[in-house]
Amino acid sequence: MEGLPQGKALDMMESAPMEEFSSKILGTNHYEDSAGSDVIVITAGLARKPGMSRDDLLFKNAEIVGGIIGACAKDSPQAVIVMVTNPLDVMTWLAWKRSGFPAERVIGMAGELDSARYAYFIAEKLGCKPSDVKAMVLGGHGDQMVPVPQLTKVKGKPITKCLDTATIEAIHQRTRDGGAEIVQLLKTGSAYYAPSSSVVKMVRAILQDTGEVILSCVYLKGQYGLSDIYCGVPVKLGRSGVKQIVEIPITEAQAQALHVSAADVRLNFEKLKL
Ligand code: 2OP
Repeated sequence: MEGLPQGKALDMMESAPMEEFSSKILGTNHYEDSAGSDVIVITAGLARKPGMSRDDLLFKNAEIVGGIIGACAKDSPQAVIVMVTNPLDVMTWLAWKRSGFPAERVIGMAGELDSARYAYFIAEKLGCKPSDVKAMVLGGHGDQMVPVPQLTKVKGKPITKCLDTATIEAIHQRTRDGGAEIVQLLKTGSAYYAPSSSVVKMVRAILQDTGEVILSCVYLKGQYGLSDIYCGVPVKLGRSGVKQIVEIPITEAQAQALHVSAADVRLNFEKLKL
């Protein structure tokens, strides 16, 4: 929409004297103005309405994302693409296919968001600082995601030693339903702030080439027993995207759950008939 990006950018720039940043925010309706970007974050797409699953957005958002990727990739051939649009794992896979970029430079934001929700719900239950909880969720960004309680810790102590099994399972379910809970409350939109914080954490690791381990949706080539699929796992991120996929010790049950989650992603991807 002509004027919308320009107005948003001007409004943000006018906060610069108080927020003390000197970045230049340019609002535009023309892809060529984004040429030469280091990182491209794509959030475009329909958001869920109450009662919808992320998968319900599949065909419409595939059309939207498919229409964007070509233009962005042509103007910024060296960029790292960070996908946010749902259904996230399939949209990231689609972005890779359509961009022609190496898979390492096409990444999806989801695991960091799901893990942050997991951490927050644990902190809420324990009455501790949310930042004292380091949580881990693997798999697709959907109902089949795989929380990893034995590697989710409060000040270094696994939550399996802080909470009983029933409480942990209830928190797992709330984590799986995290996005839907917010959609249900908002009725006309989906989560915004926690997804944004997750994207910023990824972009910072990429631009500053930190190698920080961040849960991301990436292309697997045998890791976790999964090949030729996009799915959420721990990844070292840097200037060229994926520096290293980190294989952590998980139980046989968690490995099986991860494969079920990945099969769900593949099923949806194949519906696109690319
Ligand atoms: C969420 O989980 C929008 O998928 C995002 O809230």
